[in-house]
Amino acid sequence: MVNVLELLACLHDQYQSGEALAQRLGISRVAVWKQVAALRRAGYPVQTQKGKGYRLMPGAPTPLALETLRSGRFGQMYAYLGTVSSTQDILKKWALDGAEEGSVVVAERQVRGRGRRGRSWASEPGNSLTFSVLLRPQLPLSSLALLPLVAGLALCEACGVGGLKWPNDLLVADPKAEMGYRKMGGILLEAQISGEEVAYVILGVGINVHRSGHSKPEIAFLDEFVAISRVHVLARFLQRLETRYAQLHYDLEGILREYKAKSYTLGQQVSVRTPRGQIAGLATDVAPDGSLLVASSGQMHRVGAGDVQLVGLL
Ligand code: BTN
Repeated sequence: MVNVLELLACLHDQYQSGEALAQRLGISRVAVWKQVAALRRAGYPVQTQKGKGYRLMPGAPTPLALETLRSGRFGQMYAYLGTVSSTQDILKKWALDGAEEGSVVVAERQVRGRGRRGRSWASEPGNSLTFSVLLRPQLPLSSLALLPLVAGLALCEACGVGGLKWPNDLLVADPKAEMGYRKMGGILLEAQISGEEVAYVILGVGINVHRSGHSKPEIAFLDEFVAISRVHVLARFLQRLETRYAQLHYDLEGILREYKAKSYTLGQQVSVRTPRGQIAGLATDVAPDGSLLVASSGQMHRVGAGDVQLVGLL
């Protein structure tokens, strides 16, 4: 009896007939059809076309597709899952079982996806890229202050579009959106800290790859004339993250400089909700510890954590 994962391993972005798949797997065409239905129920974006057969939605981040694009350490341990609670939870279990740094879990759908500040995070099969990366930093806590900015920088570089709202939301131009920008991606960092040591960090990334309602779902980021698929974005993110993460050991200044160059926050009027209340003012700089400096009523406020709203784009 063939299981759905064996069928998944045979599917790719070109159509294959039910007959060909049945022969390859040594099962009947009806069994292929049933397994395809099971894969869809499990959350995988399998497409069917009459006379052509079955394929995975182009750009799907299968292990094989990622392996042909990937370089480096990150993504060597990899799982491509259908429906899960949250990739953060799955990778946390891996971390506790001793998984190595750079392990990655991707899911097509999360039923309990979470965002920053207790918000939920929704993702649609095929239309978003939803994954978590395991880090085991060998750095003092103080050097890790820039990790959220490093992750944002890697996200912006991987997508090749837009800019960053402090600390690491990826914004892209959208004339239909309020303020002319919409959030395309976000990052959630969850760390296990004991004393001065960081046991592990689970870095979760959610990207809304396709503009909703777009008729060619395999093409991403048409907004700014860049067309790349989900698996390309993932491979690029892992490569950029690995490089920027290493930079934390020797070049904090360089990280800050390059982060600032991608910032959509600096120089803008902002309103920041912090644990200590609301601050409205001009975002003037990012401090060496990664906090945002906001000038307000003749005072400079240092914001270490908070939700930034861009009040007016210059
Ligand atoms: C934000 O609020 O902007 C951060 C969103 C982070 C969402 C990602 S999707 C993959 C990972 N799993 C989760 O449950 N959350 C993160």
